[in-house]
Amino acid sequence: MTDADCVAFLQWALPRLDMRWTGFRKVRGQVCKRIRRRMAELGLEGYAAYRQLLETDPDEWRVLDECCHITISRFFRDRDVFERLRRSVLPDIARRAIRENRPARIWSAGCASGEEPYTLKILWDLEAVPSLPGAAIMIVATDIDRTMLERAQIGCYHEHILHDLPPHIAAQCFDRSGDHFCVRPQHRKDITFLLQDLRVEMPSGLFDLVLNRYVAFTYFAPSLQRLVLEKTLEHLHPQGYLVIGKHERLPEERPQLASIGSTGQIFQLSPATQSH
Ligand SMILES: C[S@@+](CC[C@H](N)C(=O)[O-])C[C@H]1O[C@@H](n2cnc3c(N)ncnc32)[C@H](O)[C@@H]1O
Repeated sequence: MTDADCVAFLQWALPRLDMRWTGFRKVRGQVCKRIRRRMAELGLEGYAAYRQLLETDPDEWRVLDECCHITISRFFRDRDVFERLRRSVLPDIARRAIRENRPARIWSAGCASGEEPYTLKILWDLEAVPSLPGAAIMIVATDIDRTMLERAQIGCYHEHILHDLPPHIAAQCFDRSGDHFCVRPQHRKDITFLLQDLRVEMPSGLFDLVLNRYVAFTYFAPSLQRLVLEKTLEHLHPQGYLVIGKHERLPEERPQLASIGSTGQIFQLSPATQSH
């Protein structure tokens, strides 16, 4: 079974899962490996036999869908984006939440093993709260993968995360436990992890900041991306922010979304043209 066989199989199967091949091109190695393992479990000889099974067994599509979860994440992934969030976005949403006498609400969509929501909470605790006493926060972190969420809830990571953490943050916000580093309890507070499939549900309520990075706008098919964008905008507060990944583009221009800063990854909803 060659790489070319797997590529041909993925180009056939991914659109049927509402996903797009271009998102998977670089990470296909791990997906192909999982599919080969699945075929071995089923005693199938090759992709043609697996394709035949998929054509007759609708339940197998769920298994294939699981094979396609790419779960790589890092603390402070895209450092310049977190710098912008630290400097202007988090203080802005904190001030607004204080004015409106409510907690600021953040949603990390496709949170993997928790690196993204913990990065946000650490920045909030170290930067936003000391300068704005009284600011409260609620972070909702969702993922489709139960194993990832279990790891996120544990909040302990192999010491290689030290490469991604500014040294003062490693020292102040993590406790060493053998060759692992665990997020300190005060930075785990106010984060709720939820098992949710972004394609069919989103957490309730309005959010000041939504991070949807390296999930929908990389892997989903364009029509599904448009739907996710539409629904996400309905979950944003007036003047709320949306953050996407570095190599991602929104599936279509939205006049109500203004790009903030130079990274092209942060957008702010304009209250005048908001749809809800
Ligand atoms: C590549 S990771 C990105 C993690 C994080 N957002 C970041 O930027 O580092 C993508 C995550 O999205 C999750 N995911 C994939 N499809 C999903 C879906 N339909 N609904 C919710 N989460 C999904 C995967 O399980 C994985 O943990």
